Amino acid sequence: MTRKLFVTTALPYANAPFHLGHIMEYIQADIWVRHQRMSGNEVHFVGADDAHGAPIMIAAEKAGITPQAFVAQIAAGRKQYLDGFHIQFDNWHSTDGEENHQLSQDIYRKLKSAGFITSKTIEQFFDPVKNMFLPDRYIKGECPKCGAKDQYGDSCEVCSAVYAPTELKNPYSVLTGATPIMKSSEHFFFKLSDEKCVEFLRGWALKDNRLQSEVANKCKEWLEGEGGLGDWDISRDAPYFGIEIPDQPGKYFYVWLDAPVGYLASLKNYFGKTGRDYDAFMADPTTEQIHFIGKDITYFHTLFWPAMLKFSGYKTPDNVYAHGFVTVSGEKMSKSRGTGISPLRYLEIGMNPEWLRYYFAAKLNAKVEDLDMNPDDFVARVNSDLIGKYINIASRAAGFITKRFDGVIATDWATADDAFLNNLRKVAPEIQALFEAREYGKALRAAMEQADLVNAYVDSNKPWELAKKPENDAKLQEVCSRLLEAFRILTIFLKPVLPQLAAQVEAQLNIAPLQWADVAMPLPHHHKINPYAHLMQRVDIKIFDDLFDIPAAPANSATAEAIPVDDSATSDIEALAEEIKIDDFAKVDLRIARIVNCEHVEGSDKLLRLTLDVGEDRTRNVFSGIKSAYQPEQLIGKLTVMVANLAPRKMKFGLSEGMVLAASAADEKANPGLYILEAWPGAQPGMRVR
Ligand code: MSP
Ligand code: ZN
Repeated sequence: MTRKLFVTTALPYANAPFHLGHIMEYIQADIWVRHQRMSGNEVHFVGADDAHGAPIMIAAEKAGITPQAFVAQIAAGRKQYLDGFHIQFDNWHSTDGEENHQLSQDIYRKLKSAGFITSKTIEQFFDPVKNMFLPDRYIKGECPKCGAKDQYGDSCEVCSAVYAPTELKNPYSVLTGATPIMKSSEHFFFKLSDEKCVEFLRGWALKDNRLQSEVANKCKEWLEGEGGLGDWDISRDAPYFGIEIPDQPGKYFYVWLDAPVGYLASLKNYFGKTGRDYDAFMADPTTEQIHFIGKDITYFHTLFWPAMLKFSGYKTPDNVYAHGFVTVSGEKMSKSRGTGISPLRYLEIGMNPEWLRYYFAAKLNAKVEDLDMNPDDFVARVNSDLIGKYINIASRAAGFITKRFDGVIATDWATADDAFLNNLRKVAPEIQALFEAREYGKALRAAMEQADLVNAYVDSNKPWELAKKPENDAKLQEVCSRLLEAFRILTIFLKPVLPQLAAQVEAQLNIAPLQWADVAMPLPHHHKINPYAHLMQRVDIKIFDDLFDIPAAPANSATAEAIPVDDSATSDIEALAEEIKIDDFAKVDLRIARIVNCEHVEGSDKLLRLTLDVGEDRTRNVFSGIKSAYQPEQLIGKLTVMVANLAPRKMKFGLSEGMVLAASAADEKANPGLYILEAWPGAQPGMRVR
């Protein structure tokens, strides 16, 4: 029976270009979708930009444009990523689209008439200069516990204390610097605490293997935890970039209310464009609605979203599949620290998008596990498995068929009882089931085991030996034809992951687009293939130097060579670097420097530009990745320590003539602070530190 599938990925905030985490999510979903299409199922795969909310409104204002124009700019950049990585959404829309306004308001009205909306007056911080209520992240002040300055409204980066924004000492608005005042306002709430709601969610979340077991367990905790579910504040006051609440002038839906409705809006928009019946599709009880998301947004997708849909009489999701986070060489991706890899840069420097698809697939499973990308591992998987095991089969067989047999396949032997090929075909259902279960790593491993067997067949039949004697021609043609048939079957196994490569293979083998059912349909006798052209290059590890655009990071670069030491006497500090002699240390010329000027670097979210007086007859220009930790004005006039004999480094923003020293923890996740060194008063610019 053909399944009817409606598949989505999380809707990315329209305030920044895609990062590697987004691309991983899309690749995960795209592989699943392609697998479904190869199985003959009807799939509608849609995405959209999540356009609303205070951060986007504020970013647009800073850029001096309307939020609509701001979001449109971001949206215009999406296609090159999606096309570039062969991510085949049927539609890409926006939560600010017409359909979303209409659907969100409809859902709200129905929730309201079913008695699921209440209102309450609450007190919140308000910026009297900007005349707006301040979300927690726009309030800073002194930590109530340790007194550290400039801490966010929810927690202290210095002592890790957690508190409410109202507990901050000397709070100020990040937007204007003004002291916020407490102001009350009426807010609307979705009654998640309603017994009917809790009962429904328990049934929805915990039954039918709808959720991964670890996600279901989390839901159980949320549902059964102390106090149960609280009502959900779904309104925000103007000014807000969002959808107006019906009959409540000046009140808008909180962005997380209309964001998931954007899934429906994108599908509706797509059906509208293609002349299909959206209402009929969604009313069909056999339609399956499936959301791929990251682990950080499960709460929204497994509690709020199904409850909203249920009590407004809409169809509820069939499955929500959460994935873990991408890390790069063990580090959490973070814009401010420059460990992220730009997916666009990946494409621009000529890295093959299917290497990344293969790599992610090889590391993905059905669990909510983080996934680390690191160069050595990447190169090993692509070169030894993908190229070494799979691509090589074609290059070893196709050349002979083209050169010696005019491209003609001989398969008079390839009857149903060809044991070698049948063993290969037998594995197809298992691999299909692994794709279905999102166990891509296992699927690829199973495919590569088969590739190993095919390569063993090459080695025992040695086509290059057969080719030496004309009397072996029939045998040579048979061996190479069998190999190309094996290659065709392996290509089906890999096609959900490598769609572009599969298309090249189809063109070369001169066959129609491969489906799962084609496993059983061998290349016909006397079929003529097209001349062999090389299918895929190996990765050269050196290309990663271009991929990582590491800023002049303080401290980290000095410890980059650290080798692990026995840490049985476990301490929390980073492992010590290899022992050095005093002469080694003497090579590093450290000097006292006065920071005579410091400014932001346009276009960089990590760097500050420092002008340093090192006692020379000129000042030095140094870029330092410390923007996350300091405001320029905090640094001007201070004495610090710099590496003065470091080779100048040309950066995108200019020449950097040295490096200032700063301390940071090895585990930046747990302890993200950066602390620049300061000299005691009396030290003079230019003095050597030894
Ligand atoms: N706009 C919300 C989602 C609304 S869905 C109705 C949002 N946007 S996001 O841009 O922050 O994240 C989009 C998706 O990317 C989420 O599924 C999120 O989990 C995922 N990822 C963000 N960082 C990630 C990694 N480092 N690794 C993998 N996925 C990550 O949340
Ligand atoms: Zn503190």
